[in-house]
Amino acid sequence: MFKDKLPNDLPMESLVKPAAGSMATTPVAMAPAGEAPRIAMANARPATQRDLWYARARAAMPWGVSSNFRYWGEDDTPVVARGKGAYIWDVDGKRYIDYRLGFGPVILGHAYDAVTQAVFEAMQDGNTFALTNVYEIQAAERLCRMTGADKVRFTNSGSESTMHALRIARAHTNRERFIKFEGCYHGAHDNVMWSTPNSPVEAMGSRRSPIPVPTSSGIPNDMRRLVIPLPFNDFEMLERTVRDHGHDIAAILVEPMMGNMASLMPAKGWLEFIRKLCDDYGIVMIMDEVKTGFRIAPGGAQQFFGVHADLVTYAKAMGNGFPIGAIAGKEEFMMTIEPGAVGHGGTYCGNVVSVAACDATLRVMEEEPVFETINARGLRLMAGIHDILDRFGIPHVVTGVPAMFGVIIGNGEADSPPRDYRTANSYSDDELSSAICEGLRERGVMPDPDYAEPWFLCYALSEADVDETLQAYEDVVASVIR
Ligand SMILES: Cc1ncc(COP(=O)(O)O)c(C=O)c1O
Repeated sequence: MFKDKLPNDLPMESLVKPAAGSMATTPVAMAPAGEAPRIAMANARPATQRDLWYARARAAMPWGVSSNFRYWGEDDTPVVARGKGAYIWDVDGKRYIDYRLGFGPVILGHAYDAVTQAVFEAMQDGNTFALTNVYEIQAAERLCRMTGADKVRFTNSGSESTMHALRIARAHTNRERFIKFEGCYHGAHDNVMWSTPNSPVEAMGSRRSPIPVPTSSGIPNDMRRLVIPLPFNDFEMLERTVRDHGHDIAAILVEPMMGNMASLMPAKGWLEFIRKLCDDYGIVMIMDEVKTGFRIAPGGAQQFFGVHADLVTYAKAMGNGFPIGAIAGKEEFMMTIEPGAVGHGGTYCGNVVSVAACDATLRVMEEEPVFETINARGLRLMAGIHDILDRFGIPHVVTGVPAMFGVIIGNGEADSPPRDYRTANSYSDDELSSAICEGLRERGVMPDPDYAEPWFLCYALSEADVDETLQAYEDVVASVIR
């Protein structure tokens, strides 16, 4: 999430207004014949292919993107031409080692042959039937086997998964409120866009009585009473809240590690504590594994941390980038879904392209050393970055797990590592983080510009890519602190 550059801060003056009668707003000024066009006003460099494409994007889509999180500013919003393996290429032909991987889904690598081939073959017989199909059944069986879930329903995205999981939990308990944790992100629907990584800490009130902060205008204020935001890893606050309001609370919705806040880890016993409170108070534990699922272990965070939720939400890595999600879990909770009584549905749920991609992706995970490979490369990267920052005397913490780790550049020595959204925010040196990130991009290495977004690794990433990344990191750090 790129909290510093929300559309409200747009530098409107960097745009040249279109000539009367022209359709598009363009940042490219007219150039005399034979000369490269130049970007008008904002800076005087020759226009790149990106600038030309972005002008078209800007004219056709609000801010030139299909999701606010992709807007990095007028001059910096990338336009991608293609991807293969661990790399993407922009429209100017520059290659990047991709550590964003589409915010995490591309676990095997871009355009991974086994997945592309499976999808291509499956779609020859049609895609959307809005009826149960054979690819869907095979993917469902595989998903249940890998995660230990009794049952699964497919969706098309992580947002859809959390939206439906909350409904199931509410229907199951006949309660309406739910607990979420500050700095966790669960999708773009009104229920959950509260106190996310885009919310200013200053608006969140005291950590002893947190104020729910909507992430966007347009979210009905009436929904505020349904959400109880709490600091992650705060045992005392959680216990007190559940003791006081437990009988009103349908669900505790938790990212098992803070996948939208630099991969901050759960404190020892945190997930077990949530599990116990849910059992004691009849609350549904929903683990949001949209980022961790099929990424940090074949059985996701449930396997990694050894704690099992009632309902689990998936998306991202389960389809290697194809649009798919899932809600899975225990029989008792999944069977709350009931035709005519408790709704879950969607025209495209279980469409052939997405479930064939899912089945092929999970098959590769079952048959090849995907996790061992990613973990070995990720460990080298984590250790290497830590070592470079140490040698240059830059305060920092490297957090998370090899498949998705965070690097928080600190603005001073912290007494203890950040453990939640508030402490990470006050610890972070956003300016130095951004400078390092920009330098990496110049050198062909692309983590997300927001330090809160983890570095994601894919199976296609090679040892040579790790070497290249660490060399770039060292060069950048040397240049920015000079
Ligand atoms: C933990 C978590 N849950 C839910 C979502 C929403 O998923 P989607 O973007 O597929 O709707 C995200 C997206 O980043 C996420 O990180």
